[in-house]
Amino acid sequence: MDILGIDIGGSGIKGAPVNIDEGVLSGERHRIKTPEPATPDAVADVVAQIAAHFDWKGSIGCTFPAVIKQGVAHTAANVDQAWIGTNAEELLAERTGCLARVVNDADAAGVAEVQFGAGRGVRGTVFMLTFGTGIGSAIFTNGILVPNTELGHMDIRGKEAEHRASDRARKEDGIKWPKWAKRVSEYLNILEALYWPDLFIIGGGVSKKTLKFADHLDTRTPVVPAQLLNDAGIVGAAMWASGREDICGPVITPRDSTLTNAPILDRGWAPMFPTDIQACCWALIAPLAPARGSRG
Ligand code: BGC
Repeated sequence: MDILGIDIGGSGIKGAPVNIDEGVLSGERHRIKTPEPATPDAVADVVAQIAAHFDWKGSIGCTFPAVIKQGVAHTAANVDQAWIGTNAEELLAERTGCLARVVNDADAAGVAEVQFGAGRGVRGTVFMLTFGTGIGSAIFTNGILVPNTELGHMDIRGKEAEHRASDRARKEDGIKWPKWAKRVSEYLNILEALYWPDLFIIGGGVSKKTLKFADHLDTRTPVVPAQLLNDAGIVGAAMWASGREDICGPVITPRDSTLTNAPILDRGWAPMFPTDIQACCWALIAPLAPARGSRG
């Protein structure tokens, strides 16, 4: 089955039909420069041009570098602020005339890597981390995604991790690969101490250059480069749009999910967890909790 996958990035918007059963592109990629400013309207126009290029009538999956819940963008760390509150799925569906699903870029890359790439068949806790303009994160436990983690914004000595250790920070600070690897190691060591992962997959622009820095990383957890390289976002977006649980896992982002409407605030956790973490925790324990209305 083919779905059109589109990867919306800071410099380019790339699309290609994807055979989601095999995780490979089934046609040539088509790339258009990201418009500036990358407002929702301008980006939607480019997505529509890509869909028209392929004369696409079926489903479309798109990555976006922000928290995406039920199609709505909730953050805009490295993109135009007008995206916050935009229902990206509705906007893209309206412009393309196709059914559109939108997913965080790192989550998409992770879904592709775990199904078809470096994380294939790995049990335990797998972290996909993308190093580009920002740092994207996706966590998988036994192949199932915890969506919308934003670990690139973790504080490290008073500064966001992505402002220290993204590929952009490396270029902007003019540092050599070994020094950058030291920053990345510091970040990975914090993640190791907090989550005890079994595997780190390193993706994003730097995945093509692992020879330059891999030997300088100092972690107790194995670190491997992403295998799908530039195609991970496109492939993962298409897989996401398939909505197939055997591919994406029973994640809680689909708009028809009843879990996202669970009365989280009733559970008395509100002061303890930010909303997203609550939602993920609730998704994990919901099957164990007493049925609604059975609590006095
Ligand atoms: C965004 C994430 C995104 C990452 C990589 C971060 O700044 O907050 O949502 O996944 O950049 O693009």
